[in-house]
Amino acid sequence: MKQLHKQSTSFRKDEEMPFSQTPPYSPKSLKHPRSLPRSLNYILKEQRLLFILVGILIGSTFFIFQPSFSLLSPSDPRGRISAGERDSVVRYRDRTDFSNNYANHAAGGTYNKFANGVGRVPVGIGSKRKRIVVTGGAGFVGSHLVDKLVARGDDVIVIDNFFTGRKENVVHLFGNPRFELIRHDVVEPILLEVDQIYHLACPASPVHYKYNPVKTIISSHCTNVMGTLNMLGLAKRIGARFLLTSTSEVYGDPLEHPQKETYWGHVNPIGVRSCYDEGKRTAETLAMDYHRGAGVEVRIARIFNTYGPRMCLDDGRVVSNFVSQAIRKQPMTVYGDGKQTRSFQFVSDLVDGLVALMEGEHVGPFNLGNPGEFTMLELAEVVKETIDPSASIEFKPNTADDPHKRKPDISKAKDLLNWEPKISLRDGLPRMVDDFRNRILNEDEGKGNK
Ligand SMILES: NC(=O)c1ccc[n+]([C@@H]2O[C@H](COP(=O)([O-])OP(=O)(O)OC[C@H]3O[C@@H](n4cnc5c(N)ncnc54)[C@H](O)[C@@H]3O)[C@@H](O)[C@H]2O)c1
Repeated sequence: MKQLHKQSTSFRKDEEMPFSQTPPYSPKSLKHPRSLPRSLNYILKEQRLLFILVGILIGSTFFIFQPSFSLLSPSDPRGRISAGERDSVVRYRDRTDFSNNYANHAAGGTYNKFANGVGRVPVGIGSKRKRIVVTGGAGFVGSHLVDKLVARGDDVIVIDNFFTGRKENVVHLFGNPRFELIRHDVVEPILLEVDQIYHLACPASPVHYKYNPVKTIISSHCTNVMGTLNMLGLAKRIGARFLLTSTSEVYGDPLEHPQKETYWGHVNPIGVRSCYDEGKRTAETLAMDYHRGAGVEVRIARIFNTYGPRMCLDDGRVVSNFVSQAIRKQPMTVYGDGKQTRSFQFVSDLVDGLVALMEGEHVGPFNLGNPGEFTMLELAEVVKETIDPSASIEFKPNTADDPHKRKPDISKAKDLLNWEPKISLRDGLPRMVDDFRNRILNEDEGKGNK
C-alpha cells in the first residue's frame, strides 16, 4: 500500500512536471529481426543439437530404469554384497512365496523383504555354510546330528539343559570353532540369528515317567509345548526353517498297521504315557499353525524307535535296557508276553533322514523309522547273539497303554525325500554294544558317566 501510494504520488509529480521537461517519447527498441536466425545458427553449429538430443536420451533412460539400478547401487545395503551373495539373494527371491512374505510382514518383517527391494541379507545366505541351532543337541540323537552338521561345514549352536543329555556326547567338539554350546532351558525364550532350527529338546525317556511322574509330566508337556512355542517364535522372528522331532507315539496304540502319516492315531489322553504323546501331538499342532498362520517353514519328523551309541544306559527304552542288562550279566526284562512288535532304526539312518527332511521342500509329517519289525522276544534273541548267548529273559507285567504293534510305512519318505534306512538291526547293534561296554566298564571302575 505504501508503495502504491508512493507510486501514485510520483505519478502526480510527473503530471505536475512541466511539459517542456518531459523527455521525448522513444518506443522501446525492438530486438533485431536478425537475432533469431543467429541463435538457431548457434545451436546448429558444431553438432550442438545432436549433443542436446543425446543428453536428453541419456537422462530419460536413467529415470526410466532408476528402480532396477537402485537395487544394485552402492548406497543400497545389497549393493555392498559380493556377486556370489547376490546370486544367492536372487535364488532366495525365486523360492520365496507369497505366504512367506505375508508371514514376515506379520512378524515385523525382519527377514524376507527383498521382494520390496529393501531389507538386510539373512545370516549365511551368501554361502553354503549355514548357522544351525540344535536344541537337545547334547542328547543321544542330537549329538549325532551335530556331528554330521559340523562335519558338513556348518556352524552349530547346541542348546541343552542337560536334563537327559551329557556333555560327554559333545566333548569331542569342544574347541572346534564351528561348535557352540549353550546351557539353556527351551522353556525360556532365547534370541539367536540362525538359518535352521532342529528342535529335539524333550525329556524323551520313559524311565523318568516312573521315577517322578508329576515332575516329568509337567516337564515333558511344558518342554513340548512351551519349548516348541519358543522355538517356533524364534523361527518366525528370524525367518529360520524349523524341524520338529515328533514321534511314532502320536499314533498311540495304533488300529492301523503299518502306520501311515495319514493315520490320526489312537492315544489315551489320560494315560501314564500321555504327557509325552499328547505333548508331541500339541507340538505338531503348534508347528502346523505357525506354518499355516505365520508362514514359518516347518518340517515334521515322526521318529520310530532309534538306537545307537550314546544312548542313556538306563533310560528304560527296550534296546538300551536289553543291551545294558546283557552286558551286566543281568536277565533281560520283557514286559508282557513279549509278542508286542517294534521296529528299530540305527541312529545314523535317522540323522540322514532328518537332514534330508530339513533340506527338502516338504513339510511332512514324515515317518522316519526302519520298517523291519521285531517282537520283543526276537529282539532279545538278537541281543543274545550279539552279546551273550547265555543271557536269560525275565518276564514282568506289561506297562499301561503299551502299544501292541509299531511299524512305519515309509513310502512317503522314500518317494519325497529319497530316503530309506540302510543299517539292519544285526549290523547296527554291535556298534552300539561297543560304546555301551566301554561306558559300563568305566561306570564299574567308579568313573561315572555324568
Ligand atoms: N530316540 C528315539 O527312539 C526317539 C523316538 C521318537 C522321538 N524321539 C525324539 O527325538 C528327540 C531326541 O531324542 P533322544 O533319544 O536323543 O533323547 P535324549 O533324552 O537323549 O535327548 C533329549 C535332549 O534334550 C535335552 N532337553 C530336555 N529338556 C530340555 C529343555 N527343557 N531345554 C533344553 N534341553 C532339554 C536333554 O538334556 C537331552 O540332551 C526327542 O524330541 C524325542 O522325543 C526320539
